[in-house]
Formats: sequence, C-alpha cells, structure tokens
Amino acid sequence: MLTIPPPYNLRKMQAMDVTAVKEIDRLSFPTPARNGMFEHEIVDNDLAYYQVLEWQPDDQNSHIIGFSGYWLLGEEVHISTVAVHPDWRGLGLGEMLLLNMLYLAYRHPVNLVTLEVRPSNVAAQNLYKKYRFAVVGERIRYYRDTGEDALIMTLSPLDAPYRTFLDRQQKQLLARLAVKG
Ligand SMILES: CC(C)(COP(=O)(O)OP(=O)(O)OC[C@H]1O[C@@H](n2cnc3c(N)ncnc32)[C@H](O)[C@@H]1OP(=O)(O)O)[C@@H](O)C(=O)NCCC(=O)NCCS
Repeated sequence: MLTIPPPYNLRKMQAMDVTAVKEIDRLSFPTPARNGMFEHEIVDNDLAYYQVLEWQPDDQNSHIIGFSGYWLLGEEVHISTVAVHPDWRGLGLGEMLLLNMLYLAYRHPVNLVTLEVRPSNVAAQNLYKKYRFAVVGERIRYYRDTGEDALIMTLSPLDAPYRTFLDRQQKQLLARLAVKG
C-alpha cells in the first residue's frame, strides 16, 4: 500500500471538494470537464474511484492540490484523469497519484490498466512510461476540442513482480519527497 508522507494526504473525493477540483481541472486541460461531471462521478457512478491530494500543513489548514480518477470497466481499470495544480508540479505528486491508483488496482480482479493521452502531452506520457505503460494504439480525432488523436496506453500484467516494482518506485518517490520537503 502507498504510504502518504505528511504534509500530504490522499483521500476519496467528496462533494465538498468539487469546487477546488474543478479549478485544477480548468488549469490543467485544454477543455475543462463539463458541469456536473465530477458530481456525477462521485455520487452516481459506482464504477468510478476518484481521489484528491491535499496539502495539510496543520490541523486547521488543508488545500487540494491534485486529483485522480479511474473507472472499473469489467476486467480493466481505466484511468480517466490525473492532474496536479500547476504550482505544485515537478515535485513527484503526479507520480504519487498514479502510484496510488496502481496500488488500488490490485484491490480489483483486474490484470490490465488502460488510458488515453494526447500525443502532445509529453509530461504525462513520460510519467506513464516510467510506470511501464506502453503505447498500443490510437483513437483517431479522439479529442474534439483540438481534433488531436489519442494514444492508447496500457499496462499489464498486474502481477507480483510488478507489485515489487511499485514498492521500489514508492521508496524512491518517498526519498525524493523527503528531500523536497
Ligand atoms: C502529468 C502531470 C499529472 C504530472 O504531474 P507532476 O506532479 O508534475 O509530475 P511528477 O513530478 O510526479 O513527475 C513524475 C514523472 O512524470 C514525468 N514528467 C513530469 N513532468 C514532466 C515534464 N515537464 N517533462 C517531461 N516529463 C515530465 C517524468 O517522467 C517524471 O519522472 P522523473 O521526475 O523521474 O523524470 C502534470 O503535469 C499535470 O497535471 N498535467 C496536466 C494534466 C494532465 O495532462 N494529466 C494527464 C492526462 S492524460
């Protein structure tokens, strides 16, 4: 399981988080999620698993600085979103959100993780490649806002060696976060 080092905290997304989540979403994607999308995911969609990443310097203060979400689709986990507030990027937090989803994937009877990413989104592709996702195909003109194709990336199998790899990555990530403070 993922150990979350203070002052960071990861928890399930709740309705009260949506305003902050939507602001990060607006700052992170060419086209923001449509109105009501996050509410629908966390209230109505039993197959959706959304998390928020908080920065909690003390008991009185906490700010949402990132979020992630995936759907359980039959025998696969499909990552639907991951974003870190622009002021907090480059610290290892996107990696923490992804690592968390990959650990959560082991709780389901699945052996495949899939996602779509824009060919122009090199940061996200590098993050996924670091976790051994591979490009397996394209969805032509998938993104309606820019007309861009989507790259389909997948990860499989979710076996014991990959879990050991995740544990090793977690160790490195925690060391990196400790240095950055
Ligand atoms: C993609 C995103 C979540 C990464 O979050 P982050 O906290 O900045 O990333 P991290 O600091 O955890 O970096 C983890 C890895 O991602 C890759 N990466 C992150 N930023 C990168 C950049 N600017 N250029 C190239 N690779 C980058 C690297 O592989 C990095 O590992 P390394 O530090 O060992 O090189 C963040 O850039 C973001 O929110 N982007 C907008 C939303 C988005 O595009 N989401 C993905 C949709 S498919």
